[in-house]
Amino acid sequence: MTEKPTLLVTRRLPPDVEARLTRDYRAVLNDGDAAWGADDLINMSRDAGADAILTCGTERFTADVIERLPGNVKILATFSVGYDHIDVAAASARGLVVTNTPDVLTNATADTTMLCLLGAARQAQNAERVLRQGRWGRWASMDMLGVEVTGKRLGIYGMGRIGQAVARRARGFDMEIHYSNRNRLPPETEQGAIYHADPHKMLPHCDFLSINCPGSVETRHFVNERRIELLPDGAVVVNTARGSVIDDDALIQALQSGKLAAAGLDVFAGEPNLDKRYLSLSNVFLLPHIGSATIETRNGMGFRALDNLDAWFAGREPHDRVA
Ligand code: DGY
Repeated sequence: MTEKPTLLVTRRLPPDVEARLTRDYRAVLNDGDAAWGADDLINMSRDAGADAILTCGTERFTADVIERLPGNVKILATFSVGYDHIDVAAASARGLVVTNTPDVLTNATADTTMLCLLGAARQAQNAERVLRQGRWGRWASMDMLGVEVTGKRLGIYGMGRIGQAVARRARGFDMEIHYSNRNRLPPETEQGAIYHADPHKMLPHCDFLSINCPGSVETRHFVNERRIELLPDGAVVVNTARGSVIDDDALIQALQSGKLAAAGLDVFAGEPNLDKRYLSLSNVFLLPHIGSATIETRNGMGFRALDNLDAWFAGREPHDRVA
């Protein structure tokens, strides 16, 4: 019998995922789920004699870490669709295979986008707080007014799988869909959505703007002061992609001035240490990066990451190879 490959798992994962990986690999788990920095990743990979690493978006594989990883590590599978925490150019240069987990979290993340969109539009955070604090008085016609969603224009920046799933949901609210993406979609996928090759041309049409692009050097601070100015007054910004896409100073200023009516945010620059000014703004609906947080989806992500590892160790090309 051939020996099982050694798999270093940087974070605790759902029980069904851990059951499968401990069955099929000589798994080394991070029992206490402690945060691992660069030196921990390197030392643990060396001490475990890891052939592979299964990681999450919480660990940063910079060029320096990748360069210092012991040569026994041949593949890095991330339990996430985003891979902005991994320097894929450095991985390719070193011959380190990298895989991610697309598709399986599309629906859960699109659902969370709608949650943020609706929550922000209707100021759900304030209404719930009134109830929890026992301040629910008599009904009043001008209390807790939000922004109507039905029939409004939604601009989607980044029309990949998740952006398309958001569009499908938004059509159920009779929203007019605009989108900006590197490439135009074929008509059967576009389904009447209006394409803007130049995102600046889309922004004036966005009563709601949903960010669904990957985090990258190109998308960093896409939502900045100049682009917020192009949005209609009273627009709502929603971000379930990556915090780096938003310039926090610009967004906070626009929320304070009333240029924007509201924002719905699931992701933050530097999370979990988000810009504390968001916490005191009443017109922001905030979630702690729960886009993919359902047990079905988290199992799907784990199984997809393991499918990629299994394929690679069986001598096949992993389905979701990004480096
Ligand atoms: C992803 O998969 O990239 C998510 O942001 C993590 O839940």
